[in-house]
Amino acid sequence: MASSRTANSRTTTPLTGGRAMASTGWYPVARSSEVGTTPRQVGAAGQAYVVLRTRPGAEVTALSARCPHRLVPLTTATVVDGRVRCSYHGWEFNAEGRCVEIPSLGPAGTPPPRADLSAPWAVEERDGWVWLAPDPTPAARPPRTDGTTPSPEPVPDLPPPAGPVLDNLHPALEHAWHPVAPSTDLRASGYLQTRLLGRTWTVHRRAGGELDADPPAWGVAERLGVVWIAPAEPWAELLAVPETADPLAVSGWLPPTRSPASAGALADAFLDTSRRAGHPTSEVAVPELTYERNGFSGVQEEQLGGRRVTAVHRAPFQLVRREEDLRTGVVTTVLRLLQPEDADSTRVHTCVLVQRTSGAVSPRALATAVASATAALDEDLALLARWGGTGLPLLPRDELHLRADRLGVALRRTLADFAADGAAAGQAEELQRRATA
Ligand code: FES
Repeated sequence: MASSRTANSRTTTPLTGGRAMASTGWYPVARSSEVGTTPRQVGAAGQAYVVLRTRPGAEVTALSARCPHRLVPLTTATVVDGRVRCSYHGWEFNAEGRCVEIPSLGPAGTPPPRADLSAPWAVEERDGWVWLAPDPTPAARPPRTDGTTPSPEPVPDLPPPAGPVLDNLHPALEHAWHPVAPSTDLRASGYLQTRLLGRTWTVHRRAGGELDADPPAWGVAERLGVVWIAPAEPWAELLAVPETADPLAVSGWLPPTRSPASAGALADAFLDTSRRAGHPTSEVAVPELTYERNGFSGVQEEQLGGRRVTAVHRAPFQLVRREEDLRTGVVTTVLRLLQPEDADSTRVHTCVLVQRTSGAVSPRALATAVASATAALDEDLALLARWGGTGLPLLPRDELHLRADRLGVALRRTLADFAADGAAAGQAEELQRRATA
């Protein structure tokens, strides 16, 4: 086993919630035998790091614990060919933390310096222990253990983003339409119970067909084969999906499923073209964006593939992805509707529609489209289950956005505006309440 490495030449002062913290001295973080090629999260002076070896038996590397792109914990990264590869979009970092590959930039792309990971001032192995010095320290080497057993500090939580985050219980979400159940779950004169924004709601279909909710909601509606609740006056309309009016379109619903990830993170994953481009390196086409009221659409033409892909978003969590095969005239539309149930639970409703510019759609074409949508959803759920995240960061500088992230940036911008509207509404309601108290 290699012995030591000291005085990292790319020192960056670690931050806690955006605040630099002085931390001179050496900190024991793990036994040497516990550190292999799987990143292990440790703490030193209250800062979270991952320690690992980029090859079996190599020196220990210590890096900041989150990927700068989307703040994914690097405990989910893997070591590939001596590099640390983030599990989400495959950015790769060398043992010093320098970002050496970003697949979405293509083979000629150069990662920007901001993509680098920060690292402690020094990392060293001594007496069977791994020690970190987060900041420059007068002692050139860690102390000898002299037969005693050092006590690593508890592993700290990862620092939250410095700016606002849209989580599943954000007050602005009161002012929105939310899907709460497939229409087929609510029989004539029947009741159903559902979770939304941390509360249990009972929806009743009266004999005449009208819907009501308990506790009372501003609105209960039925659209696109789904029951919707708007707890308070909504700031955004329900999304129009013209395909649903096409009598020749065929459609199918995936069984509703749940994720511990936030609705914002699931929306982001759905729009994420750079991840869907996959690995190895392949440059991602950048969509043309049009901002609309409380949403946007992005169109991306792939000349070589003969495809046109359109993504549409309506705040907060109504999403459409339409894929047109320009050679066959087949149009596949996937509707993803997200129900923020609780802080750690989002229900996912997915509909797949297939139509053709001329002629009928075969049952096989629908089965293929449903299988593909299921695979994409399963991939999103598996990825997000591994690193969770309590919400979607809304402050642009909390993450690192590249050209390929244009839809994700548009999502954050739309949701930031939506949350600001909600906050303004909340303040107005509070002022009104005080005025009438
Ligand atoms: S590559 Fe790490 S989050 Fe995107």
